[in-house]
Amino acid sequence: MATKEKSVFFCKSCGNESPKWFGKCPACGEWNTCVEEKEVKSKKTEDRRQKSEGVPMPIKEITNAEEQRIVLPFEEFNRVLGGGLVLGSLVLVGGEPGIGKSTLLLQTALQLNKKVLYISGEESQTQIKMRADRVGIKNENCLILTETDTKEILKHVKDVQPDIVIVDSIQTLSSPYVDATAGTISQIRESAAEMNKIAKSYQIPVFLIGHITKDGSIAGPKILEHIVDTVLQFEGDRHYGFRILRTIKNRFGSASELGIFEMNATGLREVTNPSEFLLSQRDEEVSGIAIAATMEGQRPMLIETQALVSTAAYGTPQRSATGFDTRRMNMLLAVLEKRAGFKLGMKDVFLNIAGGIRSDDPALDLSVVAAVLSSNADIPIDNRTAFAAEVGLSGEIRAVTRIEARIAEADKLGFEKIYISKYSAKGLDTKRFHIEVIPVATVYDLATELFG
Ligand code: TYD
Ligand code: MG
Repeated sequence: MATKEKSVFFCKSCGNESPKWFGKCPACGEWNTCVEEKEVKSKKTEDRRQKSEGVPMPIKEITNAEEQRIVLPFEEFNRVLGGGLVLGSLVLVGGEPGIGKSTLLLQTALQLNKKVLYISGEESQTQIKMRADRVGIKNENCLILTETDTKEILKHVKDVQPDIVIVDSIQTLSSPYVDATAGTISQIRESAAEMNKIAKSYQIPVFLIGHITKDGSIAGPKILEHIVDTVLQFEGDRHYGFRILRTIKNRFGSASELGIFEMNATGLREVTNPSEFLLSQRDEEVSGIAIAATMEGQRPMLIETQALVSTAAYGTPQRSATGFDTRRMNMLLAVLEKRAGFKLGMKDVFLNIAGGIRSDDPALDLSVVAAVLSSNADIPIDNRTAFAAEVGLSGEIRAVTRIEARIAEADKLGFEKIYISKYSAKGLDTKRFHIEVIPVATVYDLATELFG
């Protein structure tokens, strides 16, 4: 008797599985994320089943194991991993196609003094060699394999016994145990689970490269987030050389770290002093620019906020923000209008974070407000002035975390003044800094302080 082939429906965003088609995912609430896949029949499950060796143990009797880490050649890479690559960990590196994921990992592999197995399902060995020549080869022990079958990969790993495995990319892998084409959700899940088994059973760290698009139209990284130990995202604006490696999840460290790289003709170069890099070089003072002392993870960073306020040319004023949340900008504009009496309602407001960087540190608020006020009045702010505070709905200036680290960074870079919340200033020993620390209480105070 012929059996009808059954379909299952997945959500591309969260991986939720459903027997019926849906417009809105019942699990994560996203719209239009439904994809249809053939129902997967797992094959040959018997030989894969392992005896579980777990026995319940009192927590006090479990011995502590020091995590062993491999130190990678890029300091910025180690930072986002929480201080190096943990043995046996599965690390997903996601990012848009063309952003530089393959370059980052190949370059890491080529500069490391360890045996690396670089498995590519995307490029041929010659293509990889060309790229390797471009970025420079130091590691003699970097093996390139073009393979997509997970069973074959396992064989090679057993054979080669590498210190690190890199898989480029998870979307090209296919497990023979699952009856689905590469790149489908069932296949991605299964392949990742098998790579995880390799990582855990041989204590080899495995990197998985995963393509992701802004609208999430390529299935992958999102549905893997719970399988892997660490999720890193490689991002940046293609028009700039900057590339940012951001920690999204990390079982072995903080999940708010950030590493900065620059892409040039010979591959990636790490940027260890981002502040100087992110501040635009300018000789003359222009209105609408303010510098924020932000924290990205554990690292203080000075970044430039630029605002342009002009009379709306057409009926409805335009508001747009790059690198900053537009809703947050609108809120700050409303606060300025209502609490400090600035008539911005009929003005176009454009906001930009220099260098193509994106930040959601609340401490940016004060510098956004300062930049908007400066552009509105067309009076420049001294370029040796920094800002670090959150702005509340009643126009009050609120304290932010790690204020001393922020002040110290601005101080180190030769800034002369920093505006902070008066609540941050309490108990702060400002004498140890050269920089003048100016506490402000409301946006109105700030406006008067800055422009009289
Ligand atoms: P790639 O690593 O292939 O991106 P991904 O794996 O994320 O798809 O990066 C490709 C881009 O990087 C490509 O546009 C060319 C650029 N590039 C350089 O600018 N310099 C270099 O040395 C290399 C190797 C690539
Ligand atoms: Mg690639």
